[in-house]
This record gives sequence, structure tokens and C-alpha cells, in this order.
Amino acid sequence: MIDKKNDNFLMSFGKMPIANNFLHENDFSKEFFYEMKVGFNEEYSLFKLLEHPKPEQMFNSKYPFLTSSSNYMIQHFNNFYKFINKNYLHSINEKIIEIGCNDGTMLNFFENKSSCLGFEPSTNVAKIAEKKNLNIIPKFFSYDYPEAKKFLNDTKIIYAANVICHIPDLNSLIISIDKFLNKKGLFIFEEPYLGSMINKNSYDQIYDEHVYIFSISSIKKIFKKYNFDLIDVFPQSTHGGSMRYVIGREGEYEIEKNVEFYESKEIKDNINNFDGMLNFKKQCSSSKDKIIEQLETFKKNGKTISGYAATSKSTTVLNYCNIGTNLINCIYDTTPDKIGKFSPGMHIPIKDYKEFNNQYPDIVYLFAWNHKEEIFSKEKNFIRNGGQWFSHVKI
Ligand code: SAH
Ligand code: TYD
Repeated sequence: MIDKKNDNFLMSFGKMPIANNFLHENDFSKEFFYEMKVGFNEEYSLFKLLEHPKPEQMFNSKYPFLTSSSNYMIQHFNNFYKFINKNYLHSINEKIIEIGCNDGTMLNFFENKSSCLGFEPSTNVAKIAEKKNLNIIPKFFSYDYPEAKKFLNDTKIIYAANVICHIPDLNSLIISIDKFLNKKGLFIFEEPYLGSMINKNSYDQIYDEHVYIFSISSIKKIFKKYNFDLIDVFPQSTHGGSMRYVIGREGEYEIEKNVEFYESKEIKDNINNFDGMLNFKKQCSSSKDKIIEQLETFKKNGKTISGYAATSKSTTVLNYCNIGTNLINCIYDTTPDKIGKFSPGMHIPIKDYKEFNNQYPDIVYLFAWNHKEEIFSKEKNFIRNGGQWFSHVKI
């Protein structure tokens, strides 16, 4: 049983709203806030939120994030599909499950739709996946649904991206994985990586949905508790640096050299223990001071500042640094569900990215620094017109 016994408080990012709760003005007074405290569990080398909203408060009929909002990510998921297909599948009839399939972008690449199943509790995005004729259970991942019966003990691959860190109850998660997978079954998932977050000081990876920021050390220990081995790992460039983990039943597969290679790097970099996190804590507060000072200087010099991409990550930066419309006049974004609303907590208006070139601001805070190539190439004229991109992460 994975428990909280050895959770150690690291720091608080202060009062936080729901990261993806872009809202209308008449909902400001009802907005929900919690204190975003983070800690480190020494027993599992696990970086985690110590307080967070309930999953139902985030994943419901109004979840605004769409996988397909990034062309780069569509391509990435095509490659992820090919990786699974080439390395781990022997026939198109082997059963496959995706946890958190969102709009069905990746599931749709698999040839035999009838052998695939997606779990997606955010019903608005689940509907988009269903329209692609995919087999979806519009609920939180669990083995305990009659609709999922034929996948029990008979699933070859369970895969996931950017969702396992959203699931607070790791015990139930692994129990369900155990019930679904067959003897040679594999659980393959990729999530934002602790090592990358520490290196880049991208503390904005921490928000309500990211209950955990995983590492090889933590994943190995967590799954060992349930008799699973971490058999391979593959670093990914997505979301500012992620790690793909391949998990198999204990003893069923050889453990690849990559696991030891990257694990020893974590030990060397001191990111597998609480003390190693103290430097990160200092970096967060110095980044905050620096960002505020720079934005205030831009303002004093008469510059106009806007934001680009109303990401979940931006909610952490804006609320932690207390940046509102006094500094950033609006944020441009592509997501229909965000446009016309206001950012969570700091209430900065979200505008359609198509309006960005109507009158370029002088400075643009790039909140989707992880999609910089895609955005820079789309917005080349901004630089040509003398504009300047800006971020707390090196871009
Ligand atoms: N895998 C996609 C979506 C990531 S966003 C991608 O990488 O782009 C996370 C998705 O997981 C959301 O659509 C959310 O509704 C879903 N989700 C959250 N908790 C879940 C759970 N317990 N079981 C299944 N899906 C979940
Ligand atoms: P992402 O980094 O996936 O966000 P999150 O922090 O929520 O995981 O970026 C997705 C958001 O960025 C989404 O609101 C759409 C926006 N976006 C743009 O506005 N333009 C773009 O070209 C891209 C790639 C994203």
C-alpha cells in the first residue's frame, strides 16, 4: 500500500484556483481556491502535491484541454503509436487500453478499433473521441465496469500520456492495471519528468492536475510494491521534458540498461531525496522575484505586454507571482472553450490568437514555452515587427 506516512512538506505556492477553470466574469465570486503545497515522499522518492482539489472538480463536462490543439503533439502521438506497434504488438487483435484518451488523437491511430478501449472522464472531450467511432468509457479509469469486462486479464498494452500524474490514488490505479493486463502485458506511459523540471526550473509544471511529478526512482519503487518491474525508460522532449516508462510483471522481461543509466543520473543529480529539492525551492522564489522585476521594468519603460497560450501552467506562474492585468493585458490562445473567458485567479482576458496580429504588443510572455518551435514558426511576423518573446523558462 502506497501511503502518505513519509510525506515531507517542501513549500507552498500560495492560494491557487483550478488551473484549467477559465471562467466568465459572473463566476468570479464563486471561484474555488486551495493552498498549493508541495512535498516530497522520502520512501518513494516522490515529488507531490500535499493538497489538491478532487479529480471531479477538474475532469468533468467542461474540461477545455484538447490533445489536438498542438500539431506537434498529434505528430508525437503518431510516433508513440508506431513505437508501441513496432516494439510490443504482434497482432492487430491484441487488446489495448488508453487511460485519459482525451479527444482520441492517439487511439485513432490503431488499426483494429474493436480491440481498443479508451477511458476518458471529461465527457465533453470523450464525445469528440466517440465521434471518431472509438470505443470509449466516459469515466475514470477502473477495472470495475461491465463494459470493460472483455479486457480483464487479456490486455496486452495499457498506455497513457500526461494523465498518470493526475491520478491521486496510485493504489487503485495499479490494482486496475493488474486486473487488465495479461501475463506478458505492459503498461507504457509518459509524464512530465522531475529531472527536467528541476533543470529548467519549470515549476509551472506543478498545478492541481499534476498531483505527482514522477522520476525513474519513484516509478521503480511505486510499481515494485505491486510486483511490477520498470523494464525500460525513454526520455521525451515533449511538455518541456518527459519520461516514457515501460512496466511489466516482475520477472517477465529483462530490465534494459537504460533504467540503470538514467536512475544513476538521478542519484548523482540528487533528485531522489528531500534535501535535493531544497535548491529547487530557492530557485522558485528567485525566479518569482526576477520575473516580477522584469515585467515591472518593461511596464515602466512604456512597453505593452500580452501573454501567449493560456496553458494550465500559466495559472501557477500568474497566481504564484501575483501577475494580473496590471502587467499583462490579455492572453492569446487557440482553444474555443477558453477564448472570451478570463484566466483562473488573476482574471486576465483570453483572446483569440487570430487577433494577435491586429496590433502586436511589445513583449509577449510565452506560457506554452514547451511549444515554442510551433508557436515561433506560426508567429514569425511578431519578431519581424520588433516584438520580443519572454518567459521564466529559458526559451
Ligand atoms: N493523453 C492526452 C490528454 C492529457 S490531459 C495528451 O497527452 O494530450 C489528461 C486527460 O486525462 C484529460 O482528458 C482527463 O479528463 C483525463 N483523466 C484525468 N483523470 C483520469 C483518470 N483517472 N482516468 C482516465 N482519464 C483521466
Ligand atoms: P500545453 O503546454 O499543452 O498546455 P498545458 O499547460 O495546459 O498542458 O499547451 C496547450 C495550450 O496552449 C492550449 O491552451 C492551446 C495553447 N496553444 C496556442 O494557443 N497556440 C499554439 O500554437 C499551441 C501549440 C498551443
